[in-house]
Amino acid sequence: MKEESIFITGAGSGMGQMAARLFAEQGYPVAALDVNEKGLLETAENHQNIRTFNTDVTNYDAVKAVVDETEAKLGPIKRVYNAAAIMPLGKVVDQDIEIFHRVMEINYNGVVNVSKAVMPRLLERNEGELVNFASLAGWVPILYMAAYNASKFAVVAFTEVLAHEHKDSSVKVLCVCPPPVKTPLLDQARDTVWPKVFDQGEAIEPQDVLAAIDEAVAQDELFVFPGKQTRMGQRMRRWFPNLIWKNVHQTEGF
Ligand SMILES: NC(=O)c1ccc[n+]([C@@H]2O[C@H](COP(=O)([O-])OP(=O)(O)OC[C@H]3O[C@@H](n4cnc5c(N)ncnc54)[C@H](O)[C@@H]3O)[C@@H](O)[C@H]2O)c1
Repeated sequence: MKEESIFITGAGSGMGQMAARLFAEQGYPVAALDVNEKGLLETAENHQNIRTFNTDVTNYDAVKAVVDETEAKLGPIKRVYNAAAIMPLGKVVDQDIEIFHRVMEINYNGVVNVSKAVMPRLLERNEGELVNFASLAGWVPILYMAAYNASKFAVVAFTEVLAHEHKDSSVKVLCVCPPPVKTPLLDQARDTVWPKVFDQGEAIEPQDVLAAIDEAVAQDELFVFPGKQTRMGQRMRRWFPNLIWKNVHQTEGF
């Protein structure tokens, strides 16, 4: 068993779950956090070095307690994946106010809570990797995604500043910005509103996102854009935002 540990939120499903298992198979002790008890059981099945925590990322004190316990019992944290998120979609006028608050609380404040709890530890040792999951939706706003877009724009800004504040340290801070990925998160769009523009490209595989993160860590990159067209999408938004909006309006029909 390796001496350093891995800390993952959103570890009961999708990319967090896949990452937890991969790290466990490489011999790392893994702290797997989620509010999805059933998902956490699945994650830890046949993986004795995965320790599960039913912890809500919106609760800073609870997150901090798990960081402390992980460091004390599983070993110094080497890599953190901030992968917990929700994605209910809809027009601003149609979504309840509680949804806007909840999306920001989990997708953005959750990332802040974990980053604040763990960064002092990494900085003290001057090593480790903090990987925050944003999205291509953190760069390109589209119809039906105001709440999610805003939360991911916030993660991008927060992570960029954090990385630059510690640019002279050996701690690596990364921001992952995938396009749609084949995970259960997309079911939340299916259950609310499925933007037609999602059908313009095929969702990518979760393992490709995880591989892109490993590569970016090795190459010391801040922003990770997994998938062939993703970086182009981000650049299109920067250079030709009206072209993107024209396509979105035409595709969605309003
Ligand atoms: N799947 C995609 O299309 C896609 C694209 C770009 C970015 N992302 C981002 O990648 C990350 C991982 O997403 P995924 O696709 O694996 O999603 P997923 O839905 O499969 O997993 C997310 C997990 O987060 C957990 N979670 C939700 N609220 C929580 C809370 N308050 N506390 C703790 N855990 C909570 C859920 O229970 C779930 O198990 C997310 O940040 C997501 O926004 C996903």
